[in-house]
Amino acid sequence: MTLTDELSLIVGEAFAAEGVDPSFGEVKVSDRPDLAQFQCNGALAAAKATKSNPRALGEAVAARLKAEPSFAAVSIAGPGFINLTLTDAFLSERVNTLRADGHAGGWRRIDGEKIVIDYGGPNIAKPLHVGHLRSAIIGESLKRLLRFAGDDVTSDIHMGDWGLPMGQLITEVAREKPDLPFFDPDYTGAYPSEPVVTLEDLERLYPQASAACKADPVRAEEARRATAELQSGRRGYRALWEQFLAVSRAAIEREYADLDVTFDWWKGEADADPLIDELAADLRRQNLTETSDGAEIIRVAREGDKKEIPPLILFKSDGSVLYGTTDLATILDRKRAIDPDRILYVVDQRQALHFEQVFRAADRAGVFPADHLEHLGFGTMNGPDGKPFKTRAGGVLKLRDLIDMVETRARERLVESGMAQGYGEIEVADIAHKVGVAALKFADLSNPRTSDYIFDLDRFMAFEGKTGPYLLYASVRVKSVLAKALAAGAGAPGDIALEAPEEIGLALSLLAFGDAVRLAYEKRMPHFLCEHAFTLAQSFSKFYAACRIVDEADAARRASRLALAEATGAQLDVVLGLLGIKIPARM
Ligand code: ARG
Repeated sequence: MTLTDELSLIVGEAFAAEGVDPSFGEVKVSDRPDLAQFQCNGALAAAKATKSNPRALGEAVAARLKAEPSFAAVSIAGPGFINLTLTDAFLSERVNTLRADGHAGGWRRIDGEKIVIDYGGPNIAKPLHVGHLRSAIIGESLKRLLRFAGDDVTSDIHMGDWGLPMGQLITEVAREKPDLPFFDPDYTGAYPSEPVVTLEDLERLYPQASAACKADPVRAEEARRATAELQSGRRGYRALWEQFLAVSRAAIEREYADLDVTFDWWKGEADADPLIDELAADLRRQNLTETSDGAEIIRVAREGDKKEIPPLILFKSDGSVLYGTTDLATILDRKRAIDPDRILYVVDQRQALHFEQVFRAADRAGVFPADHLEHLGFGTMNGPDGKPFKTRAGGVLKLRDLIDMVETRARERLVESGMAQGYGEIEVADIAHKVGVAALKFADLSNPRTSDYIFDLDRFMAFEGKTGPYLLYASVRVKSVLAKALAAGAGAPGDIALEAPEEIGLALSLLAFGDAVRLAYEKRMPHFLCEHAFTLAQSFSKFYAACRIVDEADAARRASRLALAEATGAQLDVVLGLLGIKIPARM
């Protein structure tokens, strides 16, 4: 239970004692912290519902609350807002509990769900670009948050490895190296075990192939046919495709690992392929499919739809499958593998229609209930011109180059601000990496998931303001206070007894973590965690500026303040961890 939950129960009981529904007793953090710590606005709505006077109802409730020992002050403002302030003793007790709870005061659900979360979604042979960056960053954070809250989560990268680009690549390699045995339909021997293409080859061949197919219908037809043949199991194509997969995957793993993004499953569209025939047969048995222009489709439009939802195409007229087909079969695959309660997709908002079609088809087919399939769409990262971010040359920026760019900038910022001076080169490189990745991730996650945002490296990289580097710095500073205390023999952290207003402010921030976690969890929106981290860091700064810690003369007060610092450090670690941000030991 979070602190506001607990207060809501108390206030709810007071409402109930006045003959009003206890749900009107909902308590929130005050939006006027100068007047009170918490507030309840329920008297207004309750009075409306019961046709009574809100101020009178508020006063009756307040009178009951004044008898509660946990409140230091209860007052009524305006037409019936109830303002609440807790006693220092009550707050002290709650922070002491938070310190010991093992979850830094974070909210957890009672019975977790089994969840598959699908994010990353890179495509074979195409370099990872910033479009895959947001999915990776948000997905990784949600995975961690869901696990923290008690869900049993399996993450799946769901590689794009089964569509037309594969046929385009195969035909392109066939043109460059026609003598390779992969292309000889009569070949029965073993295929080369060493890859015949490198990553650089793939990155060159794919754009070349896709341009050729665009320009030349003959080439396009060749690629289409190769795709269909690959999908129907042509041996040589399959062997070559496996090489594409291995070469790409090695690079993808490296880049995501650099961002601390990891997956339990490295499955892809192709893994669903063996289930497609069975799925299609089942759909036919249920009379759910139709033939339209030679293609086999499943209708998903519903009465009352505000816009037209086109049917999902299962098979094109040449028998090849599309994105929707593999996504549908993938749901079946996941159901067979672990039978999850829910599947989450962290994918660009622009794919909303695709997911609507897939979810409806899965529901119609009886494969998975649509209300347990969630598309968590996100906006685009734009350049200063407000259009999707491009490099100066106008191309899409590769993730690898982006990571290099933020590291370089982080290093410059460290030098400019006089940090990491005199540290060894290996440590400086590590700090620059962590600062760069923190800047990138925090900037991305601190916007509501569904919003677009503008890439502005200088702003992301600042050591002041709502940025990743500021939070790393805050975390490192808390720990250096604790280390200093240790070195000075200042004693161990002890029982917290709040006195100064800055101590109380910090305690309130720490105790707000539960609500932040729950809100982020329920909305699948990590920016609520970013907000919390920033508020906490600011509360610590105020506390640090106003209160002596290591050199506080009174031993009990020193122990209490050290404990507050320790709890802050622990909670910052947890929340940054949930954002997927790593903290350097010093900087
Ligand atoms: N590969 C896709 C893309 O690059 C993203 C895959 C998302 N996941 C899914 N199950 N469709 O757009």
